[in-house]
Amino acid sequence: MTLIDGKATANVIKAQIAEEVKAIVAAGGKQPHLAAVLVGHDGGSETYVKNKVIACEQCGFKSTLIRFEDTVTEEELLACVDRLNGDADVDGFIVQLPLPKHINEQRIIEAIDYRKDVDGFHPINVGRMAIGLPCFISATPLGILTLLQHYHVDTSGKKCVVLGRSNIVGKPMAQLMMQKQYGDATVTVCHSHSRDLKKECREADIIIAAIGRPDFLTADMVKPGAVVIDVGTTRVPDATRKSGFRLNGDVKFNEVAEKCSFITPVPGGVGPMTICSLMKNTLAAGKKEFYQ
Ligand code: GUN
Repeated sequence: MTLIDGKATANVIKAQIAEEVKAIVAAGGKQPHLAAVLVGHDGGSETYVKNKVIACEQCGFKSTLIRFEDTVTEEELLACVDRLNGDADVDGFIVQLPLPKHINEQRIIEAIDYRKDVDGFHPINVGRMAIGLPCFISATPLGILTLLQHYHVDTSGKKCVVLGRSNIVGKPMAQLMMQKQYGDATVTVCHSHSRDLKKECREADIIIAAIGRPDFLTADMVKPGAVVIDVGTTRVPDATRKSGFRLNGDVKFNEVAEKCSFITPVPGGVGPMTICSLMKNTLAAGKKEFYQ
């Protein structure tokens, strides 16, 4: 069994990005600039955004954090998006999700200029991704593809089960694993209403679990030699931790790991790669790689 080290892989890639940024700036080019909008004080979102700002420093990017209280109105948030769309110094920006219930998330996403949408959530980027055109690919699926590549996991022609159908992970992951230029696999998407979910998993060469249910994938659901990618990051209470919680994946790691050829841990697997992919997208935005 090979443990896929997302943290180490992300560090290698961030170092490569930092080298490239150094060369761009030395040649008189513009330092890439990522802005992040954070609404409210949700613990998970605070941590993610803090880690994104740290990653920007590691990559040599400029970063700006814009905060709002969770009483912010949709109009105020839209005005902020508008301002960032028009700010020539900002190459890309993200609005951290989830947003408070009184704000229409989709309306905010669609207000973002797709050329600055480094999260890859805008319908133009989602659509271009689905038909294999250059675009910003959402960070978690891109991070998983990068990990599979980095560890030379052969996906072509393999049976891949994606657990979960979210817009951020499940759907784009399935699209990418299916496409010839990325996964080139035979893909099945399973969700809360799938019949025979266990059977589908047992037949899979690759399982990507993004269902948000701690310890959901157990050893009896995994074929010997399978590749298991765990996207789950549920906070579960843990009195032995200073924080009072720990991050739990969707995979019952101890029993599943024994059966796998490759597996990602939680934390230290997909999570660091997600942030690293956002950095890749920000560099691409700075270089105007996909759009003018
Ligand atoms: N919330 C959970 N994951 C993400 C992400 O990748 N981007 C944003 N903006 N919000 C998130």
